Amino acid sequence: MTHLYKSIPVRSSEITPKQVYFSRRDFIKATGLIAGSLALAACAPAAQEATPNAKPAPTSTATDELGSAVNSYSDITNYNNYYEFSTDKQSVAGLAKDFKIAPWTIEVGGLVKNPKTFGVEDLTKTFTQEERIYRLRCVEAWSMVIPWNGFSLASLLKTAEPTSDAKYVRFETVYRPEEMPGQKDPFSSYPWPYQEGLRLDEAMNDLAFLATGLYGEPNVAQNGAPIRLVVPWKYGFKSIKSIVKIELVAEQPATMWNTIQSNEYGFYANVNPAVDHPRWTQASERRIGEFSRRATLPFNGYGEQVAHLYDGMDLTKNY
Ligand code: MTE
Repeated sequence: MTHLYKSIPVRSSEITPKQVYFSRRDFIKATGLIAGSLALAACAPAAQEATPNAKPAPTSTATDELGSAVNSYSDITNYNNYYEFSTDKQSVAGLAKDFKIAPWTIEVGGLVKNPKTFGVEDLTKTFTQEERIYRLRCVEAWSMVIPWNGFSLASLLKTAEPTSDAKYVRFETVYRPEEMPGQKDPFSSYPWPYQEGLRLDEAMNDLAFLATGLYGEPNVAQNGAPIRLVVPWKYGFKSIKSIVKIELVAEQPATMWNTIQSNEYGFYANVNPAVDHPRWTQASERRIGEFSRRATLPFNGYGEQVAHLYDGMDLTKNY
């Protein structure tokens, strides 16, 4: 059992020193907004207009540990996958505008010694807050680099003390059809609420992160506020948004995309340029804000930290 708790320290280069990236001095105001809109125009209509009196979007010159610039705040908050609101990426921000993110509780239970329901504000006080710049690679073959704030999933799970029967972690998004048009749609065949899962040793890996903020600011509804998972070595659909429940379970849990189309979306969903999606290549990706495609890296470039989790597994079968 102890091996399940082995967590790999994040290389210091993975964690951006606060003073480098999040110093308010680095947040250039209006100019960043304009630059972000221009970059976005290359691949998607810029949805964010400069409105008088609106709070200026934060900007940053930060890069990830591979030297890629973080995407603009405008890119990150206006190009979203969040099917509870819309299947149209550019409509999510507008539709999520009035989504109520407070008060919010998250229930941690199942096969644990210390089940507990937390208020989100308690989580940010209880667990060491960090800033991490992660690449997000969507299964649809686009990607971004996002500076998140939050805390490691492992720190929360350790407090819950999983029992020896716990082998997987199941996550559930809020179900609120009155506020989420995609959940209310009578013609939608999605099996709401959105659910995701990780094997316990994956969940205990230090890269698995619970994000409560973005660009040094509180998270916004379209990006999964108030709290969402970020699993940077897996396709973006594993990074479930607006979580209300985390449950430790014995069996591999059902997950939303795998339930809908299991031959296209596996439970593991590790980023793998060698295994194509049945309908498109996964060997390359389009970084939002760039013109040419770039090669996709195994485990999205995080192999050093996570490849050992899959030793001996056939990743073409466990896609
Ligand atoms: N979580 C919920 N609840 N609903 C969703 O539709 N989409 C997923 C993931 N988490 C999704 C979700 C997909 S496909 C991706 S690529 C990422 O969220 C996108 O996160 P972002 O909008 O913050 O970039």
